[in-house]
Amino acid sequence: MAKPRVFVSRRLPEVALERISRECDMDLWPGELPPPRDALLEHVRGCEGILCLLTDRIDAEVMDASECLRVISNYAVGYDNIDLAAADERRIQVGNTPGVLTETTADLAFALLLAAARRIVEADRYTRSGEWRTWGPTLLLGQDVHHAALGLVGFGRIGREMAKRARGFDMSVQYFDAVRNEDAESELGARFVDLDTLLATSDFVSIHVPLTDATRHMIGERELDLMKPTAILVNTSRGPVVDRRALYAALRDRRIAAAGLDVFEQEPISKDDPLLGLDNVVVTPHIGSASVAARTKMALMAAENLIEGVNCRPIPYKVNPEIDSDFRCCGLDCDQAT
Ligand code: DGY
Repeated sequence: MAKPRVFVSRRLPEVALERISRECDMDLWPGELPPPRDALLEHVRGCEGILCLLTDRIDAEVMDASECLRVISNYAVGYDNIDLAAADERRIQVGNTPGVLTETTADLAFALLLAAARRIVEADRYTRSGEWRTWGPTLLLGQDVHHAALGLVGFGRIGREMAKRARGFDMSVQYFDAVRNEDAESELGARFVDLDTLLATSDFVSIHVPLTDATRHMIGERELDLMKPTAILVNTSRGPVVDRRALYAALRDRRIAAAGLDVFEQEPISKDDPLLGLDNVVVTPHIGSASVAARTKMALMAAENLIEGVNCRPIPYKVNPEIDSDFRCCGLDCDQAT
């Protein structure tokens, strides 16, 4: 029997590609950059599965490029790049990679928090520049992290890992989330507050919500104005959760002290973006999950979703559970069809 055809939109860790090519007829996009729209549509044609990245916009047009598409496996935990309603309509299973990047992403968020608070990047540049003349009482003063108040916007897996890290720094932790989690509150010593209270009373605000219609520009001018002038904003979730114009103005006018950003409204951010001209911003290029171990586990999970899906089986890490057992299948001699 012919192997199912799949399109993989970027080179992943080898162990996952080997697994996929054992089970599937794999078309692997060779480029370092995402496939352009035309190429994406072209390569998806006739495929039963797609393994895509957060840089690929998978909408109804892409889904309809292949009549037999039955699984979309995203190599990320966030899946705002996929039109889930369109997938539901077509009964296509959609998978992601939860859990395996949680701690890795929290590590990076905490690193950004520390770097912004203690001005590590500025200090590095200064040390190299030859400007350093002597030990100075006011040289590169920053904010204390220990015993400060951490506000977590979103108290899912990554937010809760931030709370754990904060305990090691004797920080007080408060959070806002659409869903209150009293078990986690008592386990991690976190306090549930409304968003405005969180913004007004936290020394550090770290964002850990998915990008949805409800969270797009959740942090805008009004919210930034509620923050303390000494407060630091950290975002490792999705750029569009924060209004970039409002953020730039707040940082420029020192209405908030600093920001540590791994994600941007437009990625990659242009090197001419005025945000990058500010010295109170620490930036990284969307590398929250970028450890060898996390990326390998993500690749294996994404491969598993893909392989189960093309074989007309329920995928293990599904983001559209509403597509229960009636997902689109090959209609041939498979478990689902019998
Ligand atoms: C995700 O998984 O959603 C991250 O943004 C990339 O790992």
